[in-house]
Amino acid sequence: MENFVPEETIEEIRQHFDLVEVISNYTALKKTGRNYMGLCPFHSEKTASFTVSAEKQLYHCFGCGAGGNLFTFVMSVENLNFREAVTLLAERAGISLPEKPLSSGEKQFKALKEELLEINEVSMKFFSGALFSRKYGSEALNYLRKRELNDSTLKKFGIGYALSFGDSLYRFLKKQGFSEDKMEKAGLIIPSSRGSGYYDRFRNRIMFPIFNQQNQVVGFGGRILDQSQPKYLNSPETPIYNKRKILYALNFSRYYIREKDEAVIFEGYTDVITAYQEGLKNCAASLGTSLTEEQAEALRRNTSTVVIAYDSDTAGEAAAWRGMDILTKAGCRVKVAELPESMDPDEFIKKKGIRAFEKEIIEKSLPLIDYKLQKIQRDIGVTSFNNPEEKLLYIRKIMPVLAQIDNRVELDVYLQKVSSQIEVQVSSLKLELRKVRDTKGKPGSFRQKKTDDAAGKEFVLPAAEKELLAMMLKYPQYTGEVKKWLKNTDFSYAPFRKIVDKLYEAADQGKTYTEADVSNLFTGLEEQRIAAALILEEEKNPDSREKIIKDCIKKVKCSQLSSKRREIEKEISQLDKQQDGEKIKELLVEWSELKRLEKEFLL
Ligand code: CTP
Ligand code: MN
Repeated sequence: MENFVPEETIEEIRQHFDLVEVISNYTALKKTGRNYMGLCPFHSEKTASFTVSAEKQLYHCFGCGAGGNLFTFVMSVENLNFREAVTLLAERAGISLPEKPLSSGEKQFKALKEELLEINEVSMKFFSGALFSRKYGSEALNYLRKRELNDSTLKKFGIGYALSFGDSLYRFLKKQGFSEDKMEKAGLIIPSSRGSGYYDRFRNRIMFPIFNQQNQVVGFGGRILDQSQPKYLNSPETPIYNKRKILYALNFSRYYIREKDEAVIFEGYTDVITAYQEGLKNCAASLGTSLTEEQAEALRRNTSTVVIAYDSDTAGEAAAWRGMDILTKAGCRVKVAELPESMDPDEFIKKKGIRAFEKEIIEKSLPLIDYKLQKIQRDIGVTSFNNPEEKLLYIRKIMPVLAQIDNRVELDVYLQKVSSQIEVQVSSLKLELRKVRDTKGKPGSFRQKKTDDAAGKEFVLPAAEKELLAMMLKYPQYTGEVKKWLKNTDFSYAPFRKIVDKLYEAADQGKTYTEADVSNLFTGLEEQRIAAALILEEEKNPDSREKIIKDCIKKVKCSQLSSKRREIEKEISQLDKQQDGEKIKELLVEWSELKRLEKEFLL
């Protein structure tokens, strides 16, 4: 693919893994005939259209068009680039990769990040040691025990305690050989305002490490033990900690989220930790801020449904709604769970147990639109709409919510609902809705959801080109013949041309390949996707391969010749017989030559 790692190493990595096994970690596969089938991990579906070929080590989804090989799968499912995917797989396989040459700036930055991660790791251990030390940690440990967190939970989440002395972490890290500069960059120490020396950012706090997807500690949240303020102190943004990208505990819960195809999003550390301990493991926390696009993307890659379970007061806030809208835009089905007044999930679970939480809160969560409508009605303060003023107010407030619905059917459903709820005709509601849409600058238009339409495109792509591509991908011995007749530019779709480029190049170099390793030739995801789709497509044409290839070359050539011919016809028709007589004659000669060639080819 790319040349940061030698091709042999890429191949070694690919051979180390069985794609069926790898994919089975993400979706259940069942053997059907020669292939394995399962629900596609890349889009939500109820019947299996996701195919994996053990023999060819390729996958393809007939539903959404996703497809490729081991590397593209890991890239897509873990949201990595090629280099990162290869690195990850090499690590798992125990295959060492040659270091790629970095610029000196890159080297420095990489070294810095590694050191910051190390400082965090060491600090987590220091905090944890303090928590479990009889001398220093008993008050903190008691606090956590009172909150009913057991030791194995505390260990799992790496929870610790920052001592109340001013600079104990600073002194500890210094003894370990870390520089002040790095400790400060990690956000753990702060220069003293008196001009010299440093003190710890976190003092006398319960420490919650924040992990990235690779289970590395990128930051901390520190909770005070009593009622003083601020309740939480958090690590600042650092070269390794970007708050927009991290969801707390997603590193632990990702597997369960995938398995359930549902994620429960809480506000706080303690909500997640308690829920997880009690057995609701498909959860993560947005840490008191509204969800970002990056976080929404991360969730969408793992699940189709997200249940928002914020504290009862937060769920209705504008910022929270914005986060939920971002999730919807990212393609998640969003539901909102409602907690009893001024109760957070942690308290609810402690009081009533996790079963009750699941039954009474999660299972009763409302689709986002319903939730918003209900909330608006409640804010108006009525249980039913009797007077016109209340109706008008309600209509005015819900219109922006309805205007966001992209799907026409869904919109109809809600219009009906509201119509019968407040006894106003659907047509009147529609008029109001149009006004809102118009002022918003999208005049009644229903935006099409952005979808990967390349799968659809393939249907209108010239069948002959597709067939030739499939043949060359599967049987390298025929590439030479195709190359003799068709230039790369004879293929009409850009990704096709890229594939042809590589296949021709391989043929020139006398490289051979199999269906299983041909995809190593391609760099782009689109090429990989197409290659996998073509290779996994059943061969329906009963003719011999030689004949298929000959016919297809002819078809491609002829369709080119005839389209050129049509162009000439058009040109002639636009010319003036009197004035452009000469030109027309020339074109006619060209036209008959094309016609002759076309006939020749058809023989
Ligand atoms: N938060 C924060 N800074 C604060 C308050 C809150 O960063 N001063 C973030 C924390 O990540 C916290 C989340 O917002 O986990 C939710 O806040 P809150 O509900 O107040 O905290 P809980 O985690 O529920 O803590 P507890 O159960 O101990 O009250
Ligand atoms: Mn809370």
